[in-house]
Amino acid sequence: MSDIRTIYWKDRTVVMIDQKVLPAEERYITCRHHEDVIEAIKDMTIRGAPAIGIAAAMGIALGTFHLKADNDETFHQAFHLICDEFSQTRPTARNLFWAIERMRKRFITAMADRPALEKSRTAEQALDDVYAPVKQALIEESIRIGKEDVAANRRIGLNGRAFIKNNNGILTHCNAGALATAGYGTALGVIRAAHEEGKAIHVFVDETRPVLQGARLTAWELVKDGIPSTLITDNTAGFLMQQGKIDLVIVGADRIAANGDAANKIGTYSLAVLAKAHGIPFYVAAPLSTVDLHIRTGTDIPIEERAAQEITNIQGHRIAPEEIDVYNPAFDVTPGRYITAIITEADVALPPFSENIAKLFPHQSFQTS
Ligand code: MRU
Repeated sequence: MSDIRTIYWKDRTVVMIDQKVLPAEERYITCRHHEDVIEAIKDMTIRGAPAIGIAAAMGIALGTFHLKADNDETFHQAFHLICDEFSQTRPTARNLFWAIERMRKRFITAMADRPALEKSRTAEQALDDVYAPVKQALIEESIRIGKEDVAANRRIGLNGRAFIKNNNGILTHCNAGALATAGYGTALGVIRAAHEEGKAIHVFVDETRPVLQGARLTAWELVKDGIPSTLITDNTAGFLMQQGKIDLVIVGADRIAANGDAANKIGTYSLAVLAKAHGIPFYVAAPLSTVDLHIRTGTDIPIEERAAQEITNIQGHRIAPEEIDVYNPAFDVTPGRYITAIITEADVALPPFSENIAKLFPHQSFQTS
């Protein structure tokens, strides 16, 4: 189940499935330079918070691989410049900044370890430049980040599956599946884990205007895995709840503040309010790399605004008058008080979130200002 390969490192390139053309076409693109990866993140060839982070890590490894520097200072500067370029791609996904930070840390340790790494070089590497061991360490780190993500998602699935009961109707929004991660998915990982357990479930998929991650991507994943599902317009969610067809809502997250407020695809907040009004539990599933302890509340989460054309055009065809103003925030923030539980790979955090999220990070402290 879920053999989808979202992104991987291959022969000094980064390969990713083109999510812009799914499900009509299953096409992979090959990024040979870090600028190709930057473009792929910006134009949403790859999207979903964890996948964006992994793409950035691999992109940084790719960019560093091609660097030519004759001293530590210029190598150092050029590396950090590449990291800075990636940090300008999409502002909301915490995983992006988490991955960049991790690559910066690995760079520092690899530079310090160079004499030791030097000894373990292969003959082929010995012909390469003096920074080859550092470059190799960064490639390995980016691959590791991807592998850890799949493992985390599997644990999220195991930690969350008990919230789904036999014969439950589940509503999900956007795509928090294999395509949004290195594999298996977060919210969709929990759904997959319940399905793998043999529970009879039915998933209602919000189409997720304007980019249609639900209709194009989540629907594709569910059909591929044979999980019973129904596609609905975003406007149908409340009506379904009123009919008693939804037992729980589960979504992913792009960034979770220290108090549990969670940014996710635009429309998530409306669903959470609807769920509360109907007494339906609302779950957020995300890896710890989505949690931003530097941000105390959701009001501090930067919300990306995307091009007007995403709303005014459908597949290249203009549907709105040229003169109309457009407001197109890609995400909204659901206050923690609407969230029943946050499911992570470490554990499930229940309210009060400020206290219980902190417990997931025993070695870190909160930002209090
Ligand atoms: O704009 P996108 O497609 O990158 O937005 C993705 C989402 O909002 C997902 O729900 C979120 O990143 C969680 S993915 C595991």
